[in-house]
Amino acid sequence: MKEKLQKIRENAIAEIEKSDSLAKLNEVRTAILGKKGELTAVLKGMKDVAPEERPKVGQLVNETRGAIEEKLEEIKKKLEAEALRARYESEKIDVTMPAVTNKKGNLHPITQVRNQLIDIFGSMGFEVYEGTEIETDHYNFTALNTPKDHPARDMQDTFYLSPEFLLRTQTSAGQIHVMEAKKPPIKIISPGKVFRSDDDATHSPMFTQMEGLVVDKGITLCDLKGMLDELVKKIFGKETTTRLRPSYFPFTEPSVEVDVSCFQCGGKGCKLCKGTGWIEVLGAGVVNNKVLAGCGIDTDEYSGFAFGIGIERIAMLKYGINNIKLLFESDLRVLDQIDD
Ligand code: PHE
Repeated sequence: MKEKLQKIRENAIAEIEKSDSLAKLNEVRTAILGKKGELTAVLKGMKDVAPEERPKVGQLVNETRGAIEEKLEEIKKKLEAEALRARYESEKIDVTMPAVTNKKGNLHPITQVRNQLIDIFGSMGFEVYEGTEIETDHYNFTALNTPKDHPARDMQDTFYLSPEFLLRTQTSAGQIHVMEAKKPPIKIISPGKVFRSDDDATHSPMFTQMEGLVVDKGITLCDLKGMLDELVKKIFGKETTTRLRPSYFPFTEPSVEVDVSCFQCGGKGCKLCKGTGWIEVLGAGVVNNKVLAGCGIDTDEYSGFAFGIGIERIAMLKYGINNIKLLFESDLRVLDQIDD
């Protein structure tokens, strides 16, 4: 009996040590200590043992059981620790790995410049008025002192939709709508698309303008100049100044072309300013009395100035773009680079 128990014990311990998983270990436990287990069978056989031998054999069985249970517990702990380590290993996070980033989009350069201008003018107290892209001949030309057969109509090759309707060639059309709807003081900007049959490296049949109109008592060309100086400093940098050159628009008198001092060379002359030190950026002027009067504004009391900025032109200058088409081709390799 003693040998039998010894054998069971040795076998059991060997089996337990061989177990490489908790499931296997459980199988071994059942095979030895379970209802039909080897050791349980020995216990059941106690009745055949001589009564005087029983205490001794009983003690031996208990010892064997104790040793086996101890071993089971030891290996169980070991396997559990291994399982936990394996889990940690598989869930390990390498904090030095480069992160998977989401690509961030950005606004179109035209939208960026448009928003920047709206911010600047907003800070000067301008309100935004958005006109419509389809206009009548009256608002786009006649009310802006450009009647039929006026030579200035040739300055803008127009897409007519019918004899009466056209795609607006200038946001100036909005000036009339605003002056008809609102009494002075007026201080608005009007951004939007305009259309002209024109197509080369610096002209596109569709482009974006931002109109500005100020009408109040005592407005002069000096107010325009002062505002422009402030504007260009904010767009192109603190050192930038403006100069006005005489020009012609039927709806302003006097009319000016506005140049900014070259922000690339500081006025010394470079490729960007074609050696002149100046870059043309917009058209402007004092609102023609005929236009004010046509909108029912008393020209003895009120005067105004207006300006029209080409947004693509500002974007091209600001971001060093040499062909206007790059702004409309939607090539992400170009657009990705412009994120102010
Ligand atoms: N509408 C003019 C153009 O498109 C620009 C302009 C606006 C000029 C307002 C003077 C005043 O060329």
